Amino acid sequence: MFVGIDVVDLRDPRAAGKAGDERFVARVLSTQEAAWVRAAAAEGGRTTPAAADLRLWCLWAAKEAAFKTASRMLGGPPPFHHAAFRVELPAARAEPASTAAAAGEEASPGAPRTHTAGADAAAEAHRSPLLWPGGRSLVTHGGLTMAVAFDVSPERVVALAWTAAGGAHAPGGSPPDPPPDLHWGVEAAALPGDGDRAAFEAFTAAHFDAAERPAVHSPASAAVRLAARRGVSRALGMDEREVRFPAAEGHRSGRTPPVVAVAGHERPDLCVSLSHHGRWVAWALVGCEPDGGADPGGPARLRKAGS
Ligand SMILES: CC(C)(COP(=O)(O)OP(=O)(O)OC[C@H]1O[C@@H](n2cnc3c(N)ncnc32)[C@H](O)[C@@H]1OP(=O)(O)O)[C@@H](O)C(=O)NCCC(=O)NCCS
Repeated sequence: MFVGIDVVDLRDPRAAGKAGDERFVARVLSTQEAAWVRAAAAEGGRTTPAAADLRLWCLWAAKEAAFKTASRMLGGPPPFHHAAFRVELPAARAEPASTAAAAGEEASPGAPRTHTAGADAAAEAHRSPLLWPGGRSLVTHGGLTMAVAFDVSPERVVALAWTAAGGAHAPGGSPPDPPPDLHWGVEAAALPGDGDRAAFEAFTAAHFDAAERPAVHSPASAAVRLAARRGVSRALGMDEREVRFPAAEGHRSGRTPPVVAVAGHERPDLCVSLSHHGRWVAWALVGCEPDGGADPGGPARLRKAGS
């Protein structure tokens, strides 16, 4: 199994209103995806840009998470054209904004909900897994199909993508269950030394060893590794001090998947993914042996850290 995670900070000033940026939308989305985003902005004849933004950032995060997953599967990054990563959309609802939805009823199960108020209400309405039926979707790229799940709050969107070692999920089928050994977490983090280079360097020297430091290129990059250390060590039942993320050979800042070492040994059998945006950091872990170490008969669920 392979995993990829992406977080988008919805409070980033550049996030709001981006669905109205036609050039950006045309560059990163397929025609169908763009139409789905636009539909949210116009439902019921009301303008609801927050809902359109939310759809855009869910699609964006799904594509980024899928890109990271595909990079791991293929042993290197594929060319990253966002539009070439296709997200399977929920069935479009024929009816515009329904009074039923406003009254808290579902017009049709699985349809995206509409909303009529401001940004928070929009995010609230869409926090429901009904954004996608079952809260999951599929992303395809070339011959690869990846499952993706979303965790949405008014502050941020998280997309988590995963795939079997062979990359074969049936397109058009239901998104498969996540592997039982998939763990992930998201948190708002303090950014050590943000805006103060000397403080950042002092923090890095104090908290990261020589093998890790080349990969720690920013306060967010440091913060996500500290969060991942905590989460990964807990998932593995290890002491936090045993988990490290040494820079990979040929490391390129911000362009290289993380490597995990446990008790001083690199663990190519573990797939870790990291993401940071604004004050949010997110990590995911799965065993990447061919069978993922999973018990196919066991209960499959996403294990969010702390839950
Ligand atoms: C991977 C990528 C999509 C993530 O970008 P992002 O959304 O800005 O950043 P995120 O915080 O979500 O993710 C960054 C983390 O992803 C991981 N990562 C980087 N490249 C990765 C890859 N190819 N596969 C898996 N994980 C990767 C790293 O851990 C990184 O953390 P770090 O910067 O602290 O080392 C981006 O860095 C990238 O490589 N884009 C491709 C660029 C490209 O092909 N451009 C075409 C011409 S412009």
